[in-house]
Amino acid sequence: MSRPLPVVALYPGSFDPLTVGHEDIVRRGLRVADRIVVAVAHTSTHAKKGLFTVDERVDLIREVFGDEERIQPVSFSGLLVNFARKQGAQLVVRGLRAISDFEYELQMAQMNQELWPEIETIFLVPDAQNSFISSSLVREVASLGGDVSSFVSPVVLEAMRRKLAG
Ligand code: PNS
Repeated sequence: MSRPLPVVALYPGSFDPLTVGHEDIVRRGLRVADRIVVAVAHTSTHAKKGLFTVDERVDLIREVFGDEERIQPVSFSGLLVNFARKQGAQLVVRGLRAISDFEYELQMAQMNQELWPEIETIFLVPDAQNSFISSSLVREVASLGGDVSSFVSPVVLEAMRRKLAG
């Protein structure tokens, strides 16, 4: 009897920077997938002014998760569905924090389904404590001198300090 294929999930996003909310979703993703590819997009539907370069974001994700074999940080350009196909991913994972996320997430999931019907998007819900955390708010608070130490890992915090110090 042939063994079932490993379940590979793609967790795409801007991750500028990775927050503890993202970390929560990655760990939850590992409960449903054997391997999770954390994929930093060169092109986001939400065009935002970036803090870190895409390569810096990937390096930070790698530093946060260390050498956990089941977590693979990468970057990608072009269409998400093409990248998912290349990676052999059957699932796209996205975090759903609040109703306000829903419309955008549903639209993207349905567009991706239209582009490649074999892909399934699953939404994972973060711990309630992480529900208000977003990279854009973390960037804003940090750039205005606020304390973001409970929203990002220490390595990310240090990188933000260095970046914002110029
Ligand atoms: O963290 P974000 O910025 O909300 O992530 C959005 C992301 C990167 C998942 C989305 O913009 C995306 O998939 N970009 C890749 C290009 C693509 O496939 N666009 C069509 C999406 S339906």
